[in-house]
Amino acid sequence: MTMQNTPGGTVTIARRDVARIGYGAMQLERLSHDPDAAASVLRHALDHGVDHIDTAEFYRNGFVNSVIRSVAGVRNDVFVATKIGATPNPGGPLPLRAAQRPEQLRASVEDNLRSLGTDILDLVYLRRMDVGPGLRPEGDQIVPMDDQLATLTALRDEGKIAALGISAVDADGVRHALPAGITAVQNAYSLVDRQFEGMLELCSAEGVAWVPYFPLGGAFPGLAKVTEQPAVLDAATRLGATPSQIGLAWLLQHSPDIALIPGTASIEHLDENLAVASIELDAETLATLDVLEPVGAGEIQWATEV
Ligand SMILES: NC(=O)c1ccc[n+]([C@@H]2O[C@H](COP(=O)([O-])OP(=O)(O)OC[C@H]3O[C@@H](n4cnc5c(N)ncnc54)[C@H](OP(=O)(O)O)[C@@H]3O)[C@@H](O)[C@H]2O)c1
Repeated sequence: MTMQNTPGGTVTIARRDVARIGYGAMQLERLSHDPDAAASVLRHALDHGVDHIDTAEFYRNGFVNSVIRSVAGVRNDVFVATKIGATPNPGGPLPLRAAQRPEQLRASVEDNLRSLGTDILDLVYLRRMDVGPGLRPEGDQIVPMDDQLATLTALRDEGKIAALGISAVDADGVRHALPAGITAVQNAYSLVDRQFEGMLELCSAEGVAWVPYFPLGGAFPGLAKVTEQPAVLDAATRLGATPSQIGLAWLLQHSPDIALIPGTASIEHLDENLAVASIELDAETLATLDVLEPVGAGEIQWATEV
């Protein structure tokens, strides 16, 4: 890991140094009616130093991957991390359903290879469903992690995956996956939801990158938002920054092992998020935010947004 506890700089994931402010591509789903607009947002990110994109084939059924392929497909300098473990659920009660079985994982890797237009995936997160927020597995979708890791390490041996990560797990899950050589962990984590603070420490001790999803609390209705916290709003007013910038700056300064992947469909918001690289919170602000009582993630209300 690159031990540089400054807002900008790089973090090492899978032996690749990437800018600490990356881009979570899930919000591009909201632009599926306008692929050119989605491509513009992503191109803007890459033109302004983003070299770490987070995606999944199940983000609008391959749409987000197709945008990444069109914009970044020929660029070897862009690190693309994807996730497997769910699949679109058209017409179902929820927009996604679990796809945790080993044969489904293998098929999802093939789908990602195809839609991203590559022979090898830089990083694949096994998206478990052990902890929320989000889907929980039922019936034959409750699969032992060892069976899944066996499939994924085989795919790595076959040269289809360069590196493995794990997502939506508890600390025992991380410990269980460490011998498989996982290089990054993704759980929900932000100023409003610090239940996995101990897991961040575990990852730091093991040289594993911590890539929090919902770094601003996510877009889904029902989830607590970092930008609505009074202490965040106060700090933003005092420092002349936006509330989002305060939330992201706190994450960057909280641990050098955090790689950010904030999601946005707005170029203006993207610029704000990238500018966090040059924002350094003073000691008093950090101390105030450090002791903020997390309100908890909340529960996703699925009906209104995929
Ligand atoms: N491993 C997993 O299970 C998992 C689960 C969920 C997400 N993820 C990944 O994590 C990434 C980040 O999570 P996320 O996108 O769900 O949530 P997030 O980054 O916490 O928040 C996204 C929301 O914040 C808004 N936003 C972003 N920048 C802003 C700014 N500067 N000012 C005001 N609002 C701003 C976005 O709206 P606008 O579009 O209007 O800016 C959107 O509503 C995803 O994109 C995805 O790649 C992984």
